[in-house]
Amino acid sequence: MKIANFGVEEWLNVWENDAIYDIAGSSIASFTLEEIISIDGTTPTEFFDGLLHKKMNYGWIEGSPEFKTEVSKLYKNVPADNILQTNGATGANLLALYALIEPNDHVIAMHPSYQQLYDIPRSYGAEVDLWEIDEDHDWLPDLEELKKLIRPNTKMICLNNANNPTGTILEDDYMKEVIKIAEKVGAYILVDEVYKPLDPSVRVTSIVDLYDRGISTNSLSKTYSVPGIRVGWTATNKELADLFRKYRDYTMICAGVFDDYLAVHILKNKEKVMERNAEIVHTNLEILKEWVEKEPRVSLICPKHVSTSFIKLDIPVEIEQFCIDILKNKGVLLVPGNRFDVPGHARLGYCTHTEVLKNGLRELSEYLKQFDK
Ligand SMILES: Cc1ncc(COP(=O)(O)O)c(C=O)c1O
Repeated sequence: MKIANFGVEEWLNVWENDAIYDIAGSSIASFTLEEIISIDGTTPTEFFDGLLHKKMNYGWIEGSPEFKTEVSKLYKNVPADNILQTNGATGANLLALYALIEPNDHVIAMHPSYQQLYDIPRSYGAEVDLWEIDEDHDWLPDLEELKKLIRPNTKMICLNNANNPTGTILEDDYMKEVIKIAEKVGAYILVDEVYKPLDPSVRVTSIVDLYDRGISTNSLSKTYSVPGIRVGWTATNKELADLFRKYRDYTMICAGVFDDYLAVHILKNKEKVMERNAEIVHTNLEILKEWVEKEPRVSLICPKHVSTSFIKLDIPVEIEQFCIDILKNKGVLLVPGNRFDVPGHARLGYCTHTEVLKNGLRELSEYLKQFDK
């Protein structure tokens, strides 16, 4: 089985530790362990008292009943039994694709998006068509294009909603049209939902609540700001959950007693986490917008309160070289757009700590001045 290099991960693995101003990431400013424990007034002593006497065995294999119950509350129609804990959303996507995709299947995947969603199916021998999202249409894909791509043997449509790197959203009315197209051929729709838009006026319902063949994957890494515990999940109908159980036994046993314990604490405090994060997204998005307005070499289709943005740079240098140069000279880390197959752009993770964003943007402006000479 062959697989392409994972563009973004490869970039971050090489360069991430050299950053002074890391404005490349897509999580909302990660919590420290102390911050997340005390979000509801729990003291570290109280938190660890609950943990210290737990046996460090495998714990609950599929996730503790409390975990599964808390996750099922995120959906309208998914009982706890249909939730399976995974090693992050990467583990959830892998599990769904491993269980369902076979050689010669046809898969349609949104592009650009998270590379797992098209290169894992390819590695399993599927024929993958890319459903392009288009900057001229606010990074939305075209439904007419999907109608042309769909085939009687299309097994799955893979989406990332909200989208990494652009922060674009497929709202419910739009998704209902996608579902109409998929259900004609009985295709599954896998939606990686790690980026929740933190704007209450935006309607994005999980695919599992909209479509029986919908597979929702998610984790605590992005919207919940705790990527340091490797906890994600799949949410599906019962038939798919039973199928995934079989494959899951071969790929992971459990997420670990500590990770599950902290995951339950985070989920029980989700409103507080969202409140904190909505504030960061809102404040930082305003800073980003103001900066873009003043920066003639930069343009942006604004993300809809989603924690990732994709800027376009008008510069006479190839984007990856630019990103290496600015990192070496100014300590600013971006992700070059070619890592998403979109040169001329860069992912700017504006939901880092506000001071880091401000400093990173100041240095980026300073560096762009060289092209005005
Ligand atoms: C769309 C998407 N899915 C999944 C992940 C990884 O999530 P996790 O940390 O839960 O494995 C990322 C990380 O960048 C992502 O952008």
